[in-house]
Amino acid sequence: MSGCGATRSFKNHKEEGGENPMTERELVDKKIRTFMDNLWERGDPWDIESSAYERDRCAQLLKMLAGRRYARMLEIGCGAGYLTRLLVPHADQIVALDISQTGIERARALSTGQTDVDFRVANIMDYKPQADGPWDLIVFSDTMCYLGWLYPFFDVAYLAVQLFDATHSGGRLMLSNSMGENDDWLLRPWLIRTYRDLFVNVGYTIEAEEVYKAAKKSVDFEVLMTLYRKLPEEKSTGDVS
Ligand SMILES: C[S@@+](CC[C@H](N)C(=O)[O-])C[C@H]1O[C@@H](n2cnc3c(N)ncnc32)[C@H](O)[C@@H]1O
Repeated sequence: MSGCGATRSFKNHKEEGGENPMTERELVDKKIRTFMDNLWERGDPWDIESSAYERDRCAQLLKMLAGRRYARMLEIGCGAGYLTRLLVPHADQIVALDISQTGIERARALSTGQTDVDFRVANIMDYKPQADGPWDLIVFSDTMCYLGWLYPFFDVAYLAVQLFDATHSGGRLMLSNSMGENDDWLLRPWLIRTYRDLFVNVGYTIEAEEVYKAAKKSVDFEVLMTLYRKLPEEKSTGDVS
């Protein structure tokens, strides 16, 4: 790593001037936190709880989990917890986090209270997935595009490797991202497919993949849904040949 300057990405550069200077990283955190809080204060900004498109999208995600049950599940970017509530029958324990305090308050209020669900306000870029892991399933749905938008690629890639390290041997990651050719540049298919490949490059194996196609408010979307597995390491027999 030395010589390429990559480690500088983790150093907190102080903004110049001002009495209470914020680091670049703190500024980005504030920007996305405020942006998402403003959205969730309006209610359900993506109509996740009311639209047939979102209901069918989440149903398709669940179908890919093939009825398995997971001991420890991490959900990244859970928002108001619609998908979390659907995941509840498939997990013994869930940590569901989101950067938006407003989103998490709504999730707690709507929680069915069955499984052990720990809703937390956290920025995934500052969260240490290994500290609470290992995870049997990580669900990462329609959130990656905001990280790619605001954080350096190096930091996003570092998150991917941290998630891999925090996945139980034999455990899984479900990555799902909407793709579109409309005004939203964050959803461009070539970008979304790059995120998909990143998780292969850090070590996961693709177990299943689907492209869910449907229209939402007359706009066509495709959702790339990838279920990855962290294959158990083969035990060495000790044979030398
Ligand atoms: C489009 S919603 C997706 C909700 C849900 N995962 C789903 O698939 O229906 C994106 C969510 O990601 C959250 N988010 C964005 N950036 C985040 C970050 N850095 N850390 C944690 N959550 C983040 C937003 O607050 C928002 O609730």
